[in-house]
Formats: sequence, C-alpha cells, structure tokens
Amino acid sequence: MADEGKKNSALETVDPGDIDSELRGFYRLPMRRRRRHMAQMLGLTKEDLHILSGDEGLRADQADHMVENALGVMGMPLGLCANMRVNGRDWLIPMVIEEASVVAAASHAAKLLRVSGGVTVDVSPPHMIGQLQILDVPDAAAAEAAILECKDELLASANACDEALINVGGGALDVVVRHLAPMGADDPVGPMLVVHLVVDVRDAMGANTVNTMCERLAPRFQELSGGRVRLRIISNMADRRTVKASGTVPFSALEGKGCDSARDLALGIQEASVFAERDPFRAATHNKGIMNGIDAVLVAFGQDWRAVEAGAHSFAARDGRYTALSRWRVTDEGLHGTLELPMAVGVVGGITTVHPTVQVARKVAHVKTADELASIIAAVGLAQNLSALRALAAEGIQRGHMRVHARNVAVTAGALGHEVHPVAKAITEANNICEAEAREVLRKLRTEPGAITSPDDMRRRFQALGEEYMPHILDHIEEVLTEVSGRSSTLADMCRYHMSTGGKRLRALLPLLVAETLKVNPTYLVPFGAACEMLHNATLVHDDLQDGDKVRRGQETVWSHYGTSQAINLGDAMFYYTLLLIHRIDFPRARRVATSRRLLHETLRVIEGQELEFKLKQSASPTLADYFTMVQGKTSGLFALPIAGAAELCGPPPEVLEGLQEAARHMGVLFQIQDDVLDLYADKGRDEQGSDIREGKRSILVVHALENAPEDRAQWLRQVLDRDREQTTTEEVAEATDMLREVGSLGFAVAEMERRKQQALGTWALRNHPQLLSLVEAMCDLFMGPIRPVIDRLDL
Ligand code: MEV
Repeated sequence: MADEGKKNSALETVDPGDIDSELRGFYRLPMRRRRRHMAQMLGLTKEDLHILSGDEGLRADQADHMVENALGVMGMPLGLCANMRVNGRDWLIPMVIEEASVVAAASHAAKLLRVSGGVTVDVSPPHMIGQLQILDVPDAAAAEAAILECKDELLASANACDEALINVGGGALDVVVRHLAPMGADDPVGPMLVVHLVVDVRDAMGANTVNTMCERLAPRFQELSGGRVRLRIISNMADRRTVKASGTVPFSALEGKGCDSARDLALGIQEASVFAERDPFRAATHNKGIMNGIDAVLVAFGQDWRAVEAGAHSFAARDGRYTALSRWRVTDEGLHGTLELPMAVGVVGGITTVHPTVQVARKVAHVKTADELASIIAAVGLAQNLSALRALAAEGIQRGHMRVHARNVAVTAGALGHEVHPVAKAITEANNICEAEAREVLRKLRTEPGAITSPDDMRRRFQALGEEYMPHILDHIEEVLTEVSGRSSTLADMCRYHMSTGGKRLRALLPLLVAETLKVNPTYLVPFGAACEMLHNATLVHDDLQDGDKVRRGQETVWSHYGTSQAINLGDAMFYYTLLLIHRIDFPRARRVATSRRLLHETLRVIEGQELEFKLKQSASPTLADYFTMVQGKTSGLFALPIAGAAELCGPPPEVLEGLQEAARHMGVLFQIQDDVLDLYADKGRDEQGSDIREGKRSILVVHALENAPEDRAQWLRQVLDRDREQTTTEEVAEATDMLREVGSLGFAVAEMERRKQQALGTWALRNHPQLLSLVEAMCDLFMGPIRPVIDRLDL
C-alpha cells in the first residue's frame, strides 16, 4: 500500500497546470537527459526512470500469470507526443509504436493545432452495451413486451452483480430489444431477438462487468422470452461511448512543399478527406493513419486496443457503408477537423494497475480518469490524421518513408550503427536510394579524411577530448563517490587523493576517441570512460602497494600515505565504484549488460596477469612466453576494455569487435614494453630511474637477459633483482641497465614493439576499416613516442 502511494505520488504533487508540452530541442537530447528532464517536470522517481530505460518493466514472472505458455516479454519503443493541448491543458502523451515517424508526426500536428488553442474533445458518458442473443422465440412481440415490462427488475438484478460500480455512480441503465430477421433465403438461422443491456461502467473499460451482468441475466431473459439464450457478450461497437475531437489550424500555420499557398494545402487536405468519406478503399487507409496514433497511446496505457480498433471500424460502417472517421473542411478561420469514434478505455482493471510501464505512462500524461484518457487518445488520432493528410496533400508520404527505407538500404549495404545515418542521408540527398549507391558512399566514408593521420593528430584529439569531456568524466566519478560514501568519507577522500596524481587519462579518453572514430557522439561514452579510468586506478593503488612504490607522479602513493590496509580497502572500493559507473551508461540494456560482462572478464584477466607477475618474480628462470601471457592480462586488459568496450557500445558487428580486441591486446603489450624500457632508460616520474630493477620486476628486458646472457652475468642479475630494494645500489642499477643493452635485451624490446604494431595493424577483421586501422596505428606510434629519444640516444 505504501508503495502504491509512492508510485502515484507524482499524480498528487505535480499540478497539471504546470505541465508544458512544448519541448523545444527535446529530440536532440540524449535519451538519459530526456528522461531526467521528464523526471524533473513530472516528479518521476528513480524507479520510474529505470522502468522507462527498459531495465525493469514487466517481468517474465508477471507475464507468466498473464498468458498461457509464456516464454518471456517483448519490448517496444516508447516515445512522447509533445506540443499537445487538449481542452485548454497541456499534455505529454506516451506512445508505444514500432513505426518510425508516427510520434514525430503527431507532435508536429499537435503544434499546428495548438496555434488556435489546441484540440477540443467531448466525451460521452461511459455507456457500454452487453448483448444477449435469444433464438427460437415463439412470439417476438410478446417477448419484447414482457422484457420491457420487467426492465426495473432486470436492471436491479444486473446491478446486484457489481456493488462497487454502483458506489461510484455506475450501473446498468437500460434494456433495449431489437429484432433481427434472417438475411435471405440461404440464412440458416431463424429470426432472433437481441437484447442490449446498457451499462454505465465509469472508469473501467467495462468488458468484465458487462459480460458478468449478461451471463447473470440470461436465465431470466430465457424465461421472459420463452426462447433460448445463446451468446451473452459485450459489443465492441460502443456507439454510446464515443469521443468527438475537433481542432482548427489557421492558414498562417500551414505550409507544405509542392503547394502554392496555405489555402491550397488546406484545400488539398479537404479533398483528401472527402476522398476517404466517399470511398471505402481510401477510408481504410485514412482510418489506419488515425489508428496509428490511437493504437500507440492505447498500448502505452495497457488498453485493449483490439476492442477500440473493432469499435472504430464498425462505427465507420454504422450507416451501412464504410467511411472516414474524420472529416476536414476549409473554413474562414482555417482548416477545421473533426473526429468521432467509440472509445472504450479504462483506468481501473485489466493491466492498467499491474503493468509497471503503464503506471509510468499515466504519471507522464498525468491521466486520472477514463474520460481524460479517452480525450488525449482522440486528440492524438486527430493530429495523426492531420499530419498524414498534410504530407499526402503536399510533398507526399514517401519523402518521410524513404528516409526510413534509406536507413534500411544503408544497413543492407553493410553500414554499421554509427554509419547508418550519414549513408542514409547521402543516398537520400543524391536521390538514389539503392544498395549500390549506399556501398559507394560507405566506401568513401570509410576512407574519407578525418581518420587519424599521425601521433600528433592523435595527441591533438586527445587534448581536445580531454578539454571537453574530462570535467564530465570527473563529475561522474565525484557523483558516484558522494552517492555511495557521502561527502566526508575517508574512502572518497583517499580516492580523490589518488586521482589527483593525474596522469595521461588514456583509459578515460580512449573510449571517446573510439566513439569519435566510429562517428558516435562521445558524450554517450563519458560514463564508460569514467569506469575505465576508475578501474585502471584501482589496479594502480594495489600495484603501488605490491611493488612497494612510494611515489607516483611526484606524490606519495596511497599505501605510503595512508598505510597498507587502507590501500587495500581503497583499491577494493574502486573496483566497485567502477561497476557503479558502468550502470550510468545510457545505452540499451543489452549493450550495457554486455559491457559489464566485458568489464568483469577484463578485470579478472588483469588480476590473473598480476598474479602471474608475482609468480614470475619468484621464478629463477622466467620465459618470454610467461612474460607475454602476464602482460596480455595485466596491461592489455586495460586497453582492450576501453577500446573494444567502447566499440561494443557503439555497435559494430562482432567480428570488428573481436578485431579491435585483438589489436588492443598487441597494443597493450607494446605499451607495457615501452613502460619497461622507460623505467630503465628515461625518467617516468616514479621514485627513481631503474626502480623496476630495485623491486626485482621481471620486465621484458630482464626476462630476455636471463634467457640470453652468459650464465655468470644472468646469475649476477638474478642476485641484484632478488635483493631487498633498499640494499640495491645506484651503481648496480646502472650496471644492470648497461648489461641489458649489451646482451641485446633493449634491442629485442624495441623490435618486439615494432612487431606488435605490425600485428595490430594486420588484424584481419579490421582490413575494411581504414579509420579504425589509422586509429590503431596512431595509437601504437603514440605509445612508442616516449622511447623514441631513448632509441635515438642509444643509437639502436
Ligand atoms: C501509414 O502508416 C498511414 C497513412 O497511409 C495514412 C493515410 O494514408 O492517411 C499515411
């Protein structure tokens, strides 16, 4: 009960008068920001937003109670019809539909209609009809008289079925008798009496109540008529429960390509309307356009849309000929439209109070009664019809449809997620929507300038991305720290302390760079960049402790500043902060889940690599194969994650992802080798040069030397490495450094880097993606940049 209260609190606390349905620029916002905007305006809770995100919503176990042989649930897009004004109030109306352009078309027409005050809707009382079919009646006239004589008794008996309905002012109201004669000589059934029981169902759709009443009354009708009752069921031709929507678009608001003037367009729409009024062939399509909007709102509100469809079409044929449900006329004020149809909808019963997404839809639209729901549904139907007729009377519907078609052609031609839009746009603009053209555009797109051309270019892009997005990345990190641990927690403070050491922020920015290369807006990758950066730093906190490094980038390391226990605590916490950051990614659930799985796998590979490194340290004769296995976990994981993880979110096919993953592994090895080389031959800002030797680390140079140096020299090196770091002298470090160069280990390391670069570039799955390859190449060159001076200085 408490939960129920919380769920509906927005309906109580938000004043509907404050809702502004004109959402300028809304469609340009990322989905997460759209949701946040709605949350602020409408008082939606975090839980509501989760439901909209598709993470929650109808659960499989709930679905299992709803239908037989349930296998699961199926998602559909939920969009928002903006600009709608109905009966003097703004409404934001959720629509669930798979057909592109429907939501945009409704919003556009709502905008036109609101110029002269919006849509006016009259809702008739919620009177539904239940039917009883009575056959073999000996005297139809006498039966009718007997039934009508007992009307009060019959109504009282019907009303005894549903006390709750009577309490809210509803109930059975009338009994009407109809006589149906056989339709011709070949009609196999004799005359029949049909009784209509008219029931006011208030805020319910009404089928359950009406059917129960009909079944309850059947024996009595049988007695009174002397006939035989067969069917007892509601009629979906709810012609007593209709909505009438009307609205005017002033000429000043009308415009359309291919029309000389607004008046010309209005006349075109009038002609289109009359066409549908006269011809059932056209009326069917005209009404389908109306139902595009109506059904989408019905689905969002968990209504029986088949009942409304049946009602609409039977109503359209009520005079014996199927015709248009709406009509449009040119008047002095502008183009005036009306729409009338049965609207049996409810806000109680059915799945309206069970389905979580329906609950949120009701909060968004701020719908409390069945009348309100019926009104906004009719208004959307009218707007949808206006939009279709406007397009048909002007530039034609195909322009919009071709946009969708062009997207499909682009996909068929092989365009990846991020490439679909530019390819579709180009073939539409070239007026040549065919696969061959799409292939050509795609080929050019993949080789067009814009690919990263050099390490300098790469550096510039990193810098630009850093300037633009790093503050947002750090905001996400800060939000997670305070969200979990509060502003004054020691864990959060230690995390801030560690993060303040700075660094290149490679892992944070790599995903954004990948997105940019794949032509996806990097904004979407910001939380993922934050997660990668957090994970990388979690490993550094533990690494510094395990390696005994006291200084990182000129600042005391966490263990050295706060103690070893706290460093372990912080590193652990940072792994979990990483997971929370992953939850902030605003991509469809399936992709986010795949990214979380990737994160967990890569994290475990990193930990396995760390564990192997520990074993290597203890091993008297480590091999290069062991070294590469270790590095491919420890370092490469932290490259594979931001690169392949970002690509996974951006949507290329699996083989391209695998290609990037493979390339990232080589790049990780390359990066680690340069790190090993730098430690010995350049200043990295750690404790001091050669700290890897002091700490006994099995770097590539050391492992190579242990395998290749004369036994006595290898023995000497092993002793230096295994000695306590404080006992190793600067002279010994210098001697070891010289030795590694003399036995060819430095040369081997540099050659291995080049080999890794070539392997990364030779990744088969990337062969058709020059832009990704140029990214890989520039990244390898960038990583090798810091040791170039070493190579030059040492004349390698
Ligand atoms: C397409 O889904 C709906 C239309 O065909 C409606 C109409 O023709 O009025 C565009």
